[in-house]
Amino acid sequence: MENQTILILDFGGQYKELIARSIREMNIYAVVKSGSINSEEVKQINPIGIILTGGPNSVYGDSALDFDSQIFNLGVPVLGICYGMQLMCHTLGGVVGSCNVSEFGVVSATLNTTSVLFNNVSTTTKVLMSHSDRVYKVPKGFNVLGKTSRCPICAMGNNDKKLFGIQFHPEVELSKEGATVLRNFAINICNASCDYNIDDYIQTQIEKVRKQVGDSTVILGLSGGVDSSVCATLLSRAIGKQLVCIFVDHGLMRYKEGDEIEQVFSKMDLKFIRVNAEERFLSKLAGVVDPETKRKIVGKEFVEVFKDEAKKYPNARFLAQGTIYPDIIESGGKHNAVIKSHHNVGGLPKELGFDGVVEPLNGLFKNEVRLMGKKLGLPDFLIQRQPFPGPGLSIRIIGDVTKEKCDILRLADFIYREEVVKSKIDVSQYFAVLTGVRTVGVMGDYRTYDYLIALRAVKTSDFMTCDYVALPHKLLKRISTRIVDEVKGVNRIVYDITSKPPATVEWE
Ligand code: XMP
Repeated sequence: MENQTILILDFGGQYKELIARSIREMNIYAVVKSGSINSEEVKQINPIGIILTGGPNSVYGDSALDFDSQIFNLGVPVLGICYGMQLMCHTLGGVVGSCNVSEFGVVSATLNTTSVLFNNVSTTTKVLMSHSDRVYKVPKGFNVLGKTSRCPICAMGNNDKKLFGIQFHPEVELSKEGATVLRNFAINICNASCDYNIDDYIQTQIEKVRKQVGDSTVILGLSGGVDSSVCATLLSRAIGKQLVCIFVDHGLMRYKEGDEIEQVFSKMDLKFIRVNAEERFLSKLAGVVDPETKRKIVGKEFVEVFKDEAKKYPNARFLAQGTIYPDIIESGGKHNAVIKSHHNVGGLPKELGFDGVVEPLNGLFKNEVRLMGKKLGLPDFLIQRQPFPGPGLSIRIIGDVTKEKCDILRLADFIYREEVVKSKIDVSQYFAVLTGVRTVGVMGDYRTYDYLIALRAVKTSDFMTCDYVALPHKLLKRISTRIVDEVKGVNRIVYDITSKPPATVEWE
């Protein structure tokens, strides 16, 4: 059975993923498509409701985006958010123009709470506004449903046609009762039956993969990251030993990480292959100091090692990838101001000669991938793993990379992570860096000349920007003492107190 779907039409809004995630959290399936799709394509999707996102353009003048106005005549409820509200107004005969003074930030909105859209929402509520245009006159058949001090029409609705517009962003936490507004639209206006859940998704994907691959062999590059780990586990359920997982251990992993990955996956119903390629990678990296060159070397070598291994399975017809939904959305948005092409999307490495690609997670958000991992019984350390860059420790060792430096960093980083986990402090990403610097120290009666280790801890929701975390001094002191005592070759520790921007998360 197909799930009921809410269709999100994207006009380049930065929060489109948040809208989709909020809808999915209500157990309603949501898909994001370009705002330029036509009404026939919309009919194919057969949505129970449509949400028009915000976006950086104006609905009038040269910067106006393509939009098929027939979408408003399909009899499907529509909620326009920000640009989406203005688009609805402009298309249906209302008046949209520039604000005299733009409105950015959290403000109080006064709403008409007799409208079904604002059921259970306070009459005066905090909302996030971010706009330079606004509605001056609502289209025929619409009522004004809300205002702020700068925006006399911040909500409008045509109850009979189930068309609604809001100038504020309900999808962000800063709009205190925004989740209730979205819920009202989805459940009270679109009559969603909330039929989407991860168990069904798992079952559907298992059946789909079995049908797609038949009795062929499927190869997956397993890194031990959340996405590839969940992908491997799901595929193991679907096709068992037909799945060959190639884990390229480049020797740039964290402390005992390779062994932990082997321990989990070698017990599963799949063929697990660990390629110990440490020497191969370290010899290619020897003497290289430029971060981007390191990245390229590791990336290229990874493909080479993977290819060498994959060649051993001439019958493998499919390549599996842990691509997730945000990778697809980010790669495909026609109206996005900046289009990022994700490395997972865009076709197969042709020279490997695979017939097709298997991407069973490509409809899921990260939180759903984690939930799936939990349902499939993966251990927490894999599901909740913090991000770890593909080039591994090579970009956390400033300057040239050697085995000795990797070993020093691995142990220092392990001690740091162990103490942070014990402290239960909420941190998004944290790790140690081996700076290229050596400093003078004294241990007992001896002078030392050893490495300087830097510690980094950041909090963020999207890794585009982040704040450094002010770890307590007591904790930092314990970590510093332990690292200097337990790791030979380190005699000094510093703590990174820069946020992003101007710094980045990684040091290289
Ligand atoms: P930056 O340093 O750009 O990091 O602020 C943002 C996030 O991206 C991760 N990162 C990488 N991940 N390959 C990866 O797979 C890379 O080359 C790479 N560089 C940075 C970083 O760990 C952080 O989560």
